Order: sequence, then C-alpha cells, then structure tokens
Amino acid sequence: LRSKTLKGKKALVSAGPTYEAIDPVRFIGNHSSGKMGFAIAEALYMQGAEVTLVTGPTHQQTAYAGIHVVPVVSAGDMYDACMAASPDAAVIVMTAAVADYRPVSVASNKIKKNAADWELKLTKNEDILLALGKQKKAGQFIAGFALETNNEREHALAKLQTKNADMIVLNSLNDEAAGFGVDTNQVTILHRSGEEKKIGLQSKKAVAEEIVSFIITHVHAKP
Ligand code: PMT
Repeated sequence: LRSKTLKGKKALVSAGPTYEAIDPVRFIGNHSSGKMGFAIAEALYMQGAEVTLVTGPTHQQTAYAGIHVVPVVSAGDMYDACMAASPDAAVIVMTAAVADYRPVSVASNKIKKNAADWELKLTKNEDILLALGKQKKAGQFIAGFALETNNEREHALAKLQTKNADMIVLNSLNDEAAGFGVDTNQVTILHRSGEEKKIGLQSKKAVAEEIVSFIITHVHAKP
C-alpha cells in the first residue's frame, strides 16, 4: 500500500547510462544498469509521490504502472526530458551515469576499419544536475549521486557545492558489492548542512528506501 507522506508532490528521477552515438552501430556508454535509479523511483512512488522516471537504455522494468517512465538514449535527450519535467518537481534525484562527452559529429554510415589508429573528437555534454541546481526553485529539493574512485568525500563535497544540490549520495567504486550493475549498494549521504549518514551494504531497494526517508525528513525541514 502506498503511504501518503509525499502525496501531491511531484518527483523527478534520472536513471541508467546514456549512449552517445558514434555511427549507426556504435556508441559510447557505461556500465550503469539502472537498478539504483529504478529503486529510488519506486521508493518515492511508495511514499505517495507522483514520479517521472527519465531513464537511459536499461533492461529494468517497473512493476508500478503509476510511475511515468520516459525512455531516452543520449545525454542530450535526458537533458531535454529532465528540463521538461523539472519545473513542478518538489523532489529531484539524479542517479543517472550521464556520459560527460559525446562525439562532435555522428557518422551517417558505419565507419569502416582502414587506418591502424582512429581519433574520435569529443565535445562536452550539458550537465543536467548543474543546470537544475542553477535554476532551483524555492522549496525544491535536489539530490545528486557521485560515483568516485579516489578522494571520494572531497570530490563529492565539491559536487554538492558546484551543482547547488541539497545532498549528494556518494558511491565509492572501492566499496565491495557497490555501484554499477550489482543488486546491492552502500553509500554515504552528504547533506549541505554538513550532516552525513552512512547507509551500510544491503539491497539497492533497501538503500533507496533509506535515501528516500532521509530526503523526506529534510524536505519537511526545509524552509
Ligand atoms: O545503475 P546502477 O547499475 O544501479 O548503478 C548505480 C550508479 C552507480 C550509476 C549510481 O549509484 C551512481 O552513483 N550514479 C551517479 C554516477 C555518476 O556518473 O556520477 P557523476 O559523478 O559523473 O555525476 C554526478 C552527478 O551529476 C550525478 O547525480 C549525475 O546524475 C549528474 N550528472 C552528471 C553529468 C551530467 N552531464 N549530467 C548530470 O546530471
């Protein structure tokens, strides 16, 4: 049964990887399975929120017909879909592993292998979380994720600041059974007040429920 805690509130979640086309058959992508993002969307939905889930290509499916799933492919598509859904979202959680760069141009035919070396010129993608942080509305709560391999806390705190987020969920690739692909995760929440909360190793579903209950406490505490 859905709780009424977030009833009447809209939530926007991004999930999965993005694929940046090189030619009609190749792309640049990453190992995100979408599991964490789908789990967050479902946890928000179970708390009563009206959820829009913008997802890159994944094999995930949600059992909840009430979640509005918007499938996208590239970072550019994800940007457009998130911007469109963001104005009336009270809670925004960006879990997607967005490609930071895309090929400058997409070849219209399959690129043939001739040369021994091949240089591919890339250009920076728009940072969705940064853009949402810049236009954050009063009362809007924005959470980002950070997947780090070194100086994890420092990098995550920098993201919290520069992206004007209310909190960052830090995922370290050095932690066991955490991050990409697996069904489990362990994270540390860094809130802009300086408050920190460690969430120990458990299923992504359970981690998502703890993240959402942290968000609920802080959404209500927000002036
Ligand atoms: O999908 P799973 O297999 O379950 O794995 C889950 C996960 C590891 C992908 C997830 O828990 C996670 O850590 N997601 C963030 C991954 C990431 O690439 O973070 P980042 O440090 O590059 O980006 C920081 C934040 O900015 C993220 O909230 C990201 O969604 C956002 N971002 C980044 C770049 C960009 N162009 N736009 C963005 O919105």
